[in-house]
Amino acid sequence: MTVAFDRSGLEHFIQDSEWTDIQTQIEHADQQLRAKTGVGARYTDWLHLPSTFTEAELTAIQHAAQRIQQQSRVLVVIGIGGSYLGAKMALDFVKSKWHNDLVQDQECKVYFAGNSLSAADLKRTMQVIGKQDFSVNVISKSGTTTEPALAFRFFRKELVARYGEVGANQRIYATTDGERGALHDEALSEGYERFVIPDGVGGRFSVLTAVGLLPMAAAGIDIEQVLAGAKEAEGDYQSKQLADNPALQYAAARRILYDKGYHTEILANWEPSLQYLGEWWKQLMGESEGKNQKGIYPSSANYSTDLHSIGQYIQEGRRDLFETVVRVEQEQVDATVPVTNQQDGLAYLEGRQLSTVNQTAALGVALAHIDGGVPNMAVTVAIQDAFNLGELIYFFELAVGISGYLFAINPFNQPGVEAYKTAMFALLNKPGYEAASRAYAQRLQK
Ligand code: PA5
Repeated sequence: MTVAFDRSGLEHFIQDSEWTDIQTQIEHADQQLRAKTGVGARYTDWLHLPSTFTEAELTAIQHAAQRIQQQSRVLVVIGIGGSYLGAKMALDFVKSKWHNDLVQDQECKVYFAGNSLSAADLKRTMQVIGKQDFSVNVISKSGTTTEPALAFRFFRKELVARYGEVGANQRIYATTDGERGALHDEALSEGYERFVIPDGVGGRFSVLTAVGLLPMAAAGIDIEQVLAGAKEAEGDYQSKQLADNPALQYAAARRILYDKGYHTEILANWEPSLQYLGEWWKQLMGESEGKNQKGIYPSSANYSTDLHSIGQYIQEGRRDLFETVVRVEQEQVDATVPVTNQQDGLAYLEGRQLSTVNQTAALGVALAHIDGGVPNMAVTVAIQDAFNLGELIYFFELAVGISGYLFAINPFNQPGVEAYKTAMFALLNKPGYEAASRAYAQRLQK
């Protein structure tokens, strides 16, 4: 187990007896999840993905990634939500947010598209790609999500213009449902190479399928190591006993704090390359728990940047926040602060390692936040590599599964996501939405 959970910053907020008291509920939630007796159980196959991942699927992904690397300098990954955030998070985590600028010979640059409806963003992405050869990995479980479906039209048109119909189809990789959906059907008829998102794995739990693994592999990440880390976690996090299972401790702490009125969680980091871990985690937590007027509101903070923006609020604003810090024990790169003759009062830091300054700042901020009334816990990874990434993904997935059942909601659906779609489709006059279109038109006239 390389991921660790540090609850020392909860001492003033959670009594020992409260940990003991929640053990029975935890066991019940764990039993529901593992025995597949809880609500939404048909979408819990992510639980055993690492140990059941087949050699054939792994090889197919690796071969496709090699083909992409041979045919193109750039891979455009088109998807949104669970079909986007996992790959983006993984790339930044293992390679850094500068991957496209520091890319090695054999690796692909990866640009993401189809995660907004912004024309400016789409056009600028195409402008950045310029004349570089590119391939497309279009990812959509439903195959009908507006944002990726529209972006795919633009990039497919560009592929056809450059490489012709046959050449374009050889550069399109579709990750979608195995049996149905518009993208599935198009992939079959056009002959795109296909990867399947398993039925029992929802979008936000799909990073350890081809959804996340194909972009990772094209970027040069060792996906066998990602799966190995996740598999180790699957084995290590079996215990129902809080004392032995860090993922359960995290889920329990969240639930206890929620009951005490701490309704907002901040996932904080001290590495810019972890910013998208926060974005991925927000979807995982928010879509899983935010139901029936319940759930912890997930937010994120990137330190030390955000100490100069929302830091004031965290220290002294409404006292309903708690903080989970993702700590990296050993930073990948370090630097010694140069000795100069600058007169800014910071000479005392010269000659020291920047990593030490960063870690000391993290400790100081945690103590200040605890003193300010913000419960603080930490999830620690040894190093930002593929193995630790796999373990960390599994840690958070398991924790939210347990946490969802502690809230007595279905953690594996997302009914609320449909509400905005109905309004948007009605306003855009999508066929089939005529009645809603008329109702919105009348409402807007008033
Ligand atoms: O978690 C989910 O299921 C959603 O966030 C989806 O991932 C997102 O809406 C994209 O859906 P799709 O993959 O069907 O295009």
